[in-house]
Amino acid sequence: MEKTLIILKPDAIQRRLLGKIISRFEEKGLQITGMKMMMIPDSLARAHYVSHKGKDFFEPLVSYTTSSPVVVIVVKGKNAIEIARKMMGVTFGSKAEPGTIRGDYAVSNRFNLIHGSDSPSSAEKEIAAFFTKEEIVDYQPID
Ligand code: CMP
Repeated sequence: MEKTLIILKPDAIQRRLLGKIISRFEEKGLQITGMKMMMIPDSLARAHYVSHKGKDFFEPLVSYTTSSPVVVIVVKGKNAIEIARKMMGVTFGSKAEPGTIRGDYAVSNRFNLIHGSDSPSSAEKEIAAFFTKEEIVDYQPID
């Protein structure tokens, strides 16, 4: 079973879309094995987005990411990384397909509601950066 890190970004909370977005993962059949609300420290935002360092949108991205709370979630399931990315839609809200989270709720490039790990190695690193081992609760699904 694969695990992926989902971040419901500040705009998801400010726009009161948390429930709708979390429901989509539950309804799809993925399992939530970790979840918390937090303020992302500046250093963690910079490390998380280090691949974008030097790009013109990097500093505004760090400011936005640290501006108000986020909800971080560990989602588990077969092919969870790829499924979550498909459910999110492409990065820019204006380009994302209807039926995806960004396609249905976002128009902006930066304020695109959600982050999902893009590979198994990123997922492992990102989960370790945002969660302690104790905060992830592996349990047997009933069905
Ligand atoms: P995410 O998928 O979390 O990864 C990088 C983030 O940078 C992306 O979502 C957007 O929030 C932001 N981003 C990417 N490209 C741009 C851009 N051209 N202008 C502004 N923000 C961007």
